[in-house]
This record gives sequence, structure tokens and C-alpha cells, in this order.
Amino acid sequence: MRKQIAAANWKMNLTYQQGEKLLDDILGAKIELAPHQFTLFAVPYPYLLMTRSEVQEEQHYYAASQNCYHKKSGAYTGEVSAEMIHSLGINYCIVGHSERREYFSENNAVLAEKVDLCFEHFITPVFCCGESLEIRETGTQNHYVAAQLKDSLFHLPEEKIKDIIIAYEPVWAIGTGKTATTEQAQEMHRFLRSVVASKYGETIADQVPILYGGSVKANNAKELFSCPDVDGGLVGGASLVSADFIEIIKALK
Ligand code: 13P
Repeated sequence: MRKQIAAANWKMNLTYQQGEKLLDDILGAKIELAPHQFTLFAVPYPYLLMTRSEVQEEQHYYAASQNCYHKKSGAYTGEVSAEMIHSLGINYCIVGHSERREYFSENNAVLAEKVDLCFEHFITPVFCCGESLEIRETGTQNHYVAAQLKDSLFHLPEEKIKDIIIAYEPVWAIGTGKTATTEQAQEMHRFLRSVVASKYGETIADQVPILYGGSVKANNAKELFSCPDVDGGLVGGASLVSADFIEIIKALK
């Protein structure tokens, strides 16, 4: 059975103390997850160890990094490497979030390097893709998103791609309150799976979890996650409110 994942992306929000309290509240809800379901908390770098220790005793709850640098090590003041993240006992990392692409000029080639460094250090990348409003308005979103996958992932061998997590986040839906309809989400997720299948075959494509991100809320998560090719969500704003994120975790299928 394909993994179903509720992933919180705190972005640059919350103090350390607020983050600790949020985790206590969410974990305090004692939501029992099935073997194929899990929850990720992608937190700012300084909170990774605290988050790892908060989830340590829990089954199916993990800490994740929001980013890593695309070089192995060296004179890159202020940056954090995949090896450093791994050395903290963190096994997941978001790669290529649209905010990184937009504000930090990360392109498909740089993201391919990040994906490789993650795998080299036993970290599962949560690889983000998604189109802007301009691209959707011209109707070229499929072509655009397929190129993001091909350019950053298609150099990977089968045994690596089957371990990746993809997150489809239409940029026009992020933080806007404007969610993709279930039809739009399912159509794009189905398409992304077919793109993976075109290179790696149906069996592998069927194993890859594809999360939806962009204004996932407590009141729309169940409907979105009910789509056959939507395997959970990557959640920004609603992951900062314990009651909301608890409902989102409970909406996993
Ligand atoms: P929102 O849930 O706030 O729209 O953010 C989505 C997102 O970017 C998650 O990575």
C-alpha cells in the first residue's frame, strides 16, 4: 500500500518555545496512525533536534528539514549540508519548495544536486513541483511540471526514485486560501504519476507518494486526500495551529 503522509511545513514561523508547545499539543492528541500513514514536521534548522527528540517515542512521526545546501561542505557561510542534517538523525528534507525557487533562485539543476546529496546521506527528499498562475492561465502546466521532474529527478536510478516523495504545490494556491479543486489536484497527480511511469514503469510510479500542497485546511483535507492519486498533504499555515493539523492528520486515508 502506498504511503499516506501529512507533512507540516512551518516555514519561517514560530519561536522555539511556540514550536515545542505546538508539537506537545499535536502529539498529545495521540492519533494512532496505520502502518502506511505517517506525519512529518519540517521545522527551521535550529528546531530539528528538539523536534527529533519530541517525536522519538512516537510511531510514524518524524522531523524533517526544510532545505539543505547543494554543495557537500566547505566555505559556504550560513549554509547547512545534507551530511549535517543526517548527523542529527534527520531522515527527511524538503527540496525545491516554490519559495526557495522564487526567492533564492533555485533551479532544476541545483535541485538535482540537492536530491543527490540527500540520497547520499540517507535522507528522503520531499521534492516540490508546481506551476505559477501565469503558467496555469496559458494551459502549459503539465509540460512545465513534467520538466521540473525530468530535470531534477530523472537521472536517478530506480532504487532511488521509488523512495522519493513528490509534493505538487501549485504556486497560485500557496498561502492564498485558493485551493485547487479536487478535480484539478487529481488530474495533476494522475499526470505526475504517468510522467514517473513513462521513465520508470507503472510499478514504481504506483509506489511514489504524491502530496498536494496549497491551502490545505482542516475543512478540505479529507476531500483532497480522498482523490486516488493524492497521498496526503504538505501543509503550511494550517500546520501552525494544533487543532487544524490534528484534523489534517486524521484525514489521511
Ligand atoms: P499553505 O498551506 O500555507 O498554503 O502553504 C503550502 C505550502 O507551501 C507548504 O509547503
